Amino acid sequence: MKKMAYGGDYNPEQWESTVWNEDMKLMKQAQMNMATVNVFSWALLQRDEVTYDFSQLDEIMDMLAENGIQACLATGTAMYPAWMAKAYPDILRVDFDGRKRKYGLRHNACPNSPTYRLFAAKLVEKLANRYKSHPALAIWHVSNEYGGDCFCERCEAAFRVWLNKKYGSLEKLNEAWNTSFWSHTFYAWDEIVAPNNLSEHLGSETFTAFQGISLDYKRFNSDSLLACYQMEYDILKAYTSDVPITTNMMGAYKPLDYQKWAKFIDVISWDNYPSVDTPVSEVAMHHDLMRGLKSGQPFMLMEQTPSVTNWQPYNALKRPGVMRLQSYQAIARGADAILFFQIRRSIGACEKFHGALIDHVGHGETRVFRECASFGAELSQLGDTLLDSQVLAEVAIVFDWENWWALELSSGPSRDLSYTKEVWKYYDAFYRKQITVDFVSVDEALERYKVVVAPVLYMTKPGFAEKVKRFVERGGTFVTTFFSGIVDERDLVIRGGYPGELREILGIWVEEIDALPPGTDNEIIWPGKDRYSCSLLCDLLHPEGAEVKAVYGKDFYKGMPALTCNPFGEGKAWYVATSGDGVFLEELVATIASDVGLSSIFNGEIPAGVEATERIKEGKSYVFLLNHSTEEQSVQFCGKYLDLLTSNISTYIVLESKGVAILRKANV
Ligand code: GLA
Ligand code: ZN
Repeated sequence: MKKMAYGGDYNPEQWESTVWNEDMKLMKQAQMNMATVNVFSWALLQRDEVTYDFSQLDEIMDMLAENGIQACLATGTAMYPAWMAKAYPDILRVDFDGRKRKYGLRHNACPNSPTYRLFAAKLVEKLANRYKSHPALAIWHVSNEYGGDCFCERCEAAFRVWLNKKYGSLEKLNEAWNTSFWSHTFYAWDEIVAPNNLSEHLGSETFTAFQGISLDYKRFNSDSLLACYQMEYDILKAYTSDVPITTNMMGAYKPLDYQKWAKFIDVISWDNYPSVDTPVSEVAMHHDLMRGLKSGQPFMLMEQTPSVTNWQPYNALKRPGVMRLQSYQAIARGADAILFFQIRRSIGACEKFHGALIDHVGHGETRVFRECASFGAELSQLGDTLLDSQVLAEVAIVFDWENWWALELSSGPSRDLSYTKEVWKYYDAFYRKQITVDFVSVDEALERYKVVVAPVLYMTKPGFAEKVKRFVERGGTFVTTFFSGIVDERDLVIRGGYPGELREILGIWVEEIDALPPGTDNEIIWPGKDRYSCSLLCDLLHPEGAEVKAVYGKDFYKGMPALTCNPFGEGKAWYVATSGDGVFLEELVATIASDVGLSSIFNGEIPAGVEATERIKEGKSYVFLLNHSTEEQSVQFCGKYLDLLTSNISTYIVLESKGVAILRKANV
């Protein structure tokens, strides 16, 4: 029967082939059905410019097929062979400080290196041709965790071409970058240099004298890496039009505009490596952000560790039950595949202490193996029940990579302003109320939501304000915050009063912005509710039609609005003028939820520490209850529910610490 993909990164090339049989046996014992292979094998496949040798990969692919394990076949272009760097140094990146790298590490080819693109294309073409009809081939895995940036001369030249295409003329470019500031007017394209520590930046990636230049370079760098991906994608599609293609992402990873990338990816996949102290709602947020890249489609959890990582300062073991709990958290939020890094633990180099299904001891008699095997058995038991089921939300949070870049490149008002942190605060408030949230880009339709929240949407791109206006006019609730609506897509301030194009919808004018140094705060007084602490930034604003809901409690702007709500058309537009604490945000979410009638996932009281989510398939609802707490928790239902994992039918459940239940309303 069909079931979720289950397995992980498998690097048999690191081992003598005599252990491969044992690997197959243990993978099957763990009820695994997918292996990601060939991620870092380029040097083995190609020993010099002209000699390719696929014999080992042939053997691996055949072995997988014989054992009924599907291949998530990587193109292997994530790390180039040493001979290539020696012969063609253009493949080596130049870093932010202007230093040319030597051969080493991985994931660091210059994306505009002709050598890299040429050899990568050749390799991918050979792979595609060779394995196009192989019975093990299930999905293509392009490269691995694309990322980073390059500031070499080739990238600089390509940047000028990219700019020329974007602006068409230096006049337009000078206007967009406001180059009359500090005597920067450009008269020839080759006067433009890459923005790094040798040019516009001073010591850090976030301090630049010219936001316009640095912002465009971030766009350009993301596009350059995307072009490498697209090159491989097109080759693969030409040979195997029906085999899906993915590349593994990293959640809220700043350098790449994943929303732009997602358009060229068949299935979203991502790697989840929370630390022991990462809040569970932050992990949930990353899953939802990744799911939102292709809304309505399941994603793959391409990597997680079954037990430890090696690269964190302190690599705590996942406690018993935690791997299972985190795997179900991914499924609960839309994953249809659970894969690990990795199947067998390396014996050398930096990942030899990274967790794996098979430990150095070499057999399956370990806690980690047993947990993986018993989770594998559960996935087999679930079969295809949850495959392709949907997560539906009435609330959307707007997330925009370019806004993220621009916001954090801004010089002032506060260096502590973090986009993801502010977004997470809102996400977390909904999470604590058990309200499902989708993430949407600024380009997406908003009509299917009751509430749209756009935290610190500093940059308003063309058409966005109009879209929000229509959404609110027709009855939607829009929420935005301090430091929103400030600039256009060029990072030029929208004149005529903040928050620019959102001013009319919000019915306010922000006159000044106060930055609060660390350790200082102000107060939000919400009559009829409570007093809450706020920090970071405080907007000093004047209502222009909006109702004042709460005011500041301190300082010379005591009594000025801290929270406003503007009735607009059939809907409402809220403005949160400062960064309120978690209690305040929970109250705000509760107020809005009762105002618009948001449904919570589950009919019943859910104790704190238990996460509840829902996936829907063919009209049936599957509720996931995940006990992240260290205590046993009991949940009372309204009506009888069937627990898919235990087959019990009951009106309540007792979940042990780290316990999971998947419930379907019983037909009784
Ligand atoms: C990343 C990589 C893997 C491996 C793991 C280790 O996600 O994609 O190759 O290095 O980290 O945690
Ligand atoms: Zn480069």
